[in-house]
Amino acid sequence: MNVIVSSSKESLAEEFAYTLKEMSDTGEKIHVALSGGSTPKVIFDYISEELGEDILWDNINFYWGDERCVSPSDSESNYKMTVDHLLSKIDMPEENIFRIKGENDPDEEAIRYSQLLEDELPIVNGIPQFDLVMLGLGDDGHTVSIFPYNIELWDAKENCVVAVHPDSGQKRVTITGKIVNNAKAVAFLVTGANKAEKVKEIIMLEGNYETYPASLVNPESEELTWYLDKAAAKDLDFSEE
Ligand code: 6PG
Repeated sequence: MNVIVSSSKESLAEEFAYTLKEMSDTGEKIHVALSGGSTPKVIFDYISEELGEDILWDNINFYWGDERCVSPSDSESNYKMTVDHLLSKIDMPEENIFRIKGENDPDEEAIRYSQLLEDELPIVNGIPQFDLVMLGLGDDGHTVSIFPYNIELWDAKENCVVAVHPDSGQKRVTITGKIVNNAKAVAFLVTGANKAEKVKEIIMLEGNYETYPASLVNPESEELTWYLDKAAAKDLDFSEE
């Protein structure tokens, strides 16, 4: 596990952006699952404004780790957030973009997207393999759209399942633990002091970490990097190591 602590959201975005650039420079097609919520906004803005011309977008396919079951034009849509902050500002071919269709029936879309991953991604260990899965961390320790109250969804046999947000009741389509942990690399991008306690518990294996789905992220490749800003990292203490 690597932990990269940046002084600001912008410098965190820079760290992550260069990872994406390096991956696109290989010349091979790379498959990246994007996270949603609000954290990626600053990161996507930085990438599009600072590296939009440098990253070889033809070499990257974008997918989503999860999506809210709303229209792609809804303000809640992770796809819309990505269009607003990234896709509308870069020159990525439409055919490289594989959104989860939030407007579809959730159960049918979970099946469709599960099959899409089988069709589009390399199959490694009998499981579709992303080159990179980008993850966020919820205040409650959730990641993708697997929440503590139904943490067992993480171990579903399907590639994608339907989840329900515990507070809003909003349905989501999400990839499951088998997909996340089969990725070549996984990157948590977490900012803000409100996440600091969960970051500490999960990274230091303290408190109630085992109840948080994010603590189950443990890629077989062992390529797990936490990109944190100082605020999210403020409770970490590596001194005893
Ligand atoms: C979503 C996400 C979710 C998100 C975390 C953090 O659809 O909301 O994919 O897992 O990454 O909830 O969200 P924030 O970045 O808004 O704190």
